[in-house]
Amino acid sequence: MVETKWGQQAEALAQGRLDAVILNDWYAIASLAALSPGTVQSARVLDQDLVIWCGQDGTVQVWADRCPHRSVRLSRGKVVANTLVCPYHGMVYDTTGQCIQVPAHPDYVPPKQACVRSYPVQVQYGLVFVCLGDDPSAIAPFPEWTDDQFVKALAGPYPCQTGGYRAIENFLDLAHFAHLHTGILGDLEFPQVGDYAVTTDDRGVHFDDIHIWQPDPMNTGQGGFVTYAYSAFRPLTAYFRKTTPDGDCLTIWYVVTPVSEAECIGWMWMALNFIDASQTDDAIAFQDKVFEQDRDSLESHNPKRLPLDLTTEFHVPCDRGSLAYRQWLKQLGVTYGTL
Ligand code: FES
Ligand code: CO
Repeated sequence: MVETKWGQQAEALAQGRLDAVILNDWYAIASLAALSPGTVQSARVLDQDLVIWCGQDGTVQVWADRCPHRSVRLSRGKVVANTLVCPYHGMVYDTTGQCIQVPAHPDYVPPKQACVRSYPVQVQYGLVFVCLGDDPSAIAPFPEWTDDQFVKALAGPYPCQTGGYRAIENFLDLAHFAHLHTGILGDLEFPQVGDYAVTTDDRGVHFDDIHIWQPDPMNTGQGGFVTYAYSAFRPLTAYFRKTTPDGDCLTIWYVVTPVSEAECIGWMWMALNFIDASQTDDAIAFQDKVFEQDRDSLESHNPKRLPLDLTTEFHVPCDRGSLAYRQWLKQLGVTYGTL
């Protein structure tokens, strides 16, 4: 498969940095709601430029963003019926990626090699996911997706100049609440982090029984004690469930799409059992605010890649979750975006 890649991704593969676990995972690249028939968009995943296009019949294709004729971007092209037309010489590609028409030679039958590399696509949780590998894993579970007690709200996408695992670790990190989310998720008077349980199993890494007080945990203006449980289901997909003693519950399902080893885009589904559908804009605005508070620290990590050599950074007891995450990545054989 190396011969079908080019540019930076070929380089990463050749150097052994693009491992099978990361290559075969699913990454969100678009919201289904934003893709109407005729839409053409570009995306970049694992250093690979992609074109996403939606035919007039509503089916979504994700291909390498490169016309095999003279290597221009197909994302500059247009959809005609259920084909994608290259902007340069007007060659027409059908939904399998095969060139079926050459305007300069109306009777010419394009050879089999006149075919664009296409990738597996899945629509799940209202998002379009792509897998760049030949042996796709499974998209991580989002338990509240089918639970009608929960209103769902999609926050993001949040492009961020940091490696994807840094974004996941930040999502799983408690000790920064007092400092970056003062007055919302933490309080400078109470920066302490208590003990919590960490387990690793075949579903990922889990942190449980985290009990903390937050000034405004649910965006209601009221402080209170909350209980968190976190999971990293996949290297770049994590989840938490936060509950109050009254039973109010907020969960977040977070997939981080690796653009490159040092750049990512986060997609966050929130599920809330204490608001109605008219309040989803408020919930998204709250998450936007929280993410912007995180951004400066996230983008200033140096290195942006995550060190799996545990001697590179120092660790304190409340980092046991992050240590378990790094050890799990190493066990899985993850190399892309790590040091
Ligand atoms: Fe696409 Fe020639 S480069 S048709
Ligand atoms: Co934060």
